[in-house]
Amino acid sequence: TQTTAGRPTSEPAGRKQRAQIKARTLRTDRWWVAPAITFAALTSFLVYGFWAIFDKSYFVEPYIAPFSSPCLATSCPEGARFLGLAPFGDWWTLPPGFLILGLPAGFRLTCYYYRKGYYRAFWLSPPACSVAEPHGKYTGETRLPLILQNLHRYFFYGAVLIGAVLTYDAVLALRDAEGNWGHFGLGTAILFINAALIWAYTLSCHSCRHITAGRLNHFSKHPLRYKMWTFVSKLNARHMLLAWLSMYSVMLADLYVRLVAKGIINFPFA
Ligand code: FES
Repeated sequence: TQTTAGRPTSEPAGRKQRAQIKARTLRTDRWWVAPAITFAALTSFLVYGFWAIFDKSYFVEPYIAPFSSPCLATSCPEGARFLGLAPFGDWWTLPPGFLILGLPAGFRLTCYYYRKGYYRAFWLSPPACSVAEPHGKYTGETRLPLILQNLHRYFFYGAVLIGAVLTYDAVLALRDAEGNWGHFGLGTAILFINAALIWAYTLSCHSCRHITAGRLNHFSKHPLRYKMWTFVSKLNARHMLLAWLSMYSVMLADLYVRLVAKGIINFPFA
């Protein structure tokens, strides 16, 4: 029998047993398209995120830009503060978005899907299946810093908090600028759609799937956990799609609020 790499399964895996092929790849299709698109898309997200973190127009009643929420800095305007709190003292001069960046960024950075994406697109390790990588040595995720990818399961809990905060922000967007309930602007709809996509992405996480029913020996003895696992498994099958949709939804929602805050978008029901 042969493995997909063409190596007899009886042979131990190792570099010496690999076929000595000089060509970098024998693939004739356009294997570079997917990593090139991933590279462009992730780069655009990073550039936008860098700009947004330092942009000060992140709040306009009743909307707050997702990249700057929860707003916990003393510099946050009164109405923007999460639950009215400002636990970071005056000595925190960093932008509010910067202070909470670790949770969503850590979650996405260590996500199994994004790892595949940026290992291929940025590190070319390898750029695609059956395409040799340029690096001479491969240690996987067995040592620092990549061993820290194992923290993903803990970032999941942080992501749940962020999902809750974004849902709370969307609910608050049902008030008008005077604080009366019943407002429903385009921004309200955008914040709700974004919160829904963020939840779908978060719950489709592989760690979440494991939390619901991983290590159970008998599904029949845990019907509720089995139900949750079945639901999460369905989302999990679309994890890549949800990763992209939620990444763009959070970016567009953030941009929309900033454009309203800057007065660039000012039509009725904005
Ligand atoms: Fe992608 Fe957990 S595996 S968010």
